[in-house]
Amino acid sequence: MSDSCVFSIFGSTGHLARTKLLPALYHLHANGHLPENLVILCIGRRDWVTASWREQVATTLKAQTGIAQEEEKLHSFLQRVHYFLGSISEAEMYPRLKQALENTPTFPNNYIFYLSLPPSEYKLVAQQLAHAGLNNESDGWRRLIVEKPFGFDLEDAQTLDNSLLSDYREQQLFRIDHYLGKDTVQNIFVFRFANLMMEPLWNRNYIDHVQITHSEQHGIEDRAEFYDDTGALRDMIQSHLLQLLTLVAMEPPANLDAESIRDEKVKVLKSIRPISKNAVRAQAFRAQYTRGRIDGHDVPGYLEEKGVAANSTTETYAALKLYIDNWRWSGVPFYLRTGKRLAAKHSLISIRFKHPPQQLFRDTPIKEIPPNWLLLGIQPEQCIRAEVQIRESGMGMHTRSTQMDASTCTSDDRSADAYENLLLDAIEGDHSQYLRSDEVLHAWRVVDPIQKAWASEHDFIHTYPAGTWGPSEGNRLFDQDDHYWRSLLDEK
Ligand code: BG6
Repeated sequence: MSDSCVFSIFGSTGHLARTKLLPALYHLHANGHLPENLVILCIGRRDWVTASWREQVATTLKAQTGIAQEEEKLHSFLQRVHYFLGSISEAEMYPRLKQALENTPTFPNNYIFYLSLPPSEYKLVAQQLAHAGLNNESDGWRRLIVEKPFGFDLEDAQTLDNSLLSDYREQQLFRIDHYLGKDTVQNIFVFRFANLMMEPLWNRNYIDHVQITHSEQHGIEDRAEFYDDTGALRDMIQSHLLQLLTLVAMEPPANLDAESIRDEKVKVLKSIRPISKNAVRAQAFRAQYTRGRIDGHDVPGYLEEKGVAANSTTETYAALKLYIDNWRWSGVPFYLRTGKRLAAKHSLISIRFKHPPQQLFRDTPIKEIPPNWLLLGIQPEQCIRAEVQIRESGMGMHTRSTQMDASTCTSDDRSADAYENLLLDAIEGDHSQYLRSDEVLHAWRVVDPIQKAWASEHDFIHTYPAGTWGPSEGNRLFDQDDHYWRSLLDEK
């Protein structure tokens, strides 16, 4: 088992900590994965003490499925939890925190600091921790977990990175993208590199195009302040969808070391053809939801959401077409799409194969043979499925599509949450599912020209009614007439 540590959370009363971090730590504890003496130190501005904070945590956790019945485990988990009162904007808080960490006899001497804060605060908090000496590893290790979005644009990300790297070694930094912790996302890697079968087909000779869709039914909820400045391109594509793309497109790494894996992912990002200003219209599309219906309920439009500027042109839907200019993928379009308030909640990678070279069945009743698809369902269904054509039994030559399933198909809510995998990796010091500095910056390079172009066009944005799949104008991205968005696993 790995070293014990103090797992400190900045922003521990916020949404992410309550809904993801504390439940993930709880499940790790309940399943015996946490080092014995690990302590969870929640840092917050509210006037609580450890006892009252533990009650808050208990209530939050009990509200989550499956935790209510586990009284004993919950009790022992709460013994790990401590509260530290302090505001990140007060310089005196950091030395005080250092003292508390060093002078509490039950606290281990390795520290993790999780920045579950608004992105604009990362730099300040990281700097102040360093000024207080909390980056110094002479007496135990120090790690910093930085949430996404990492910066606001390429320039800002570069500034943030320089600032972090002036106080911390790259090995101390854990830039998180929770998609990398999802079981099915990790399965893409295994599926590709633990099997020989697909490898000969996994290239421009056989693959027609790749689609990566992430759709959500919910809107921006109470995140207007964050979202209206951010938009779908920064929120989802710069990070999660580009990470999925790298996993589909990367070459096999030399070994399973974090650096070897990240080297290959960076190569993919570097090979993405830069989108020139003139190509933005042909390769990127954005839109915003208007009021509509989701699951039989009326929902407001984006501009009617609380906290959104009345004339906002922030995109809630973004789609891109990218080309990876390398030997494996030259000429194969990668279509990426994400949106809020769409018709269904779904994350799906759909890989369409080319048609067979010979029209062998041309003179039979089979008029057109649909192409093969390989579908990697990320959520809610987790599966790997190939669509192939078979002959219908009976008279005459008729075919139908059937599915070969890699039978991981499940919508099991209790498979380990992405944060469980990732937090454990950080505790164990494993960077392989975290982003390296150059990886983040290359991902920004891909979206930066689009961001700049959209920022200058602030008087118009396409719209779509909530509950639909987005405007048809977005289809202009497709290279061929027979390309279309594959939205669901089961659709034709
Ligand atoms: C977050 C985005 O990173 O990912 C959210 O900020 C988005 O806007 C969420 O809803 C999607 O994550 P998941 O795990 O629910 O697919």
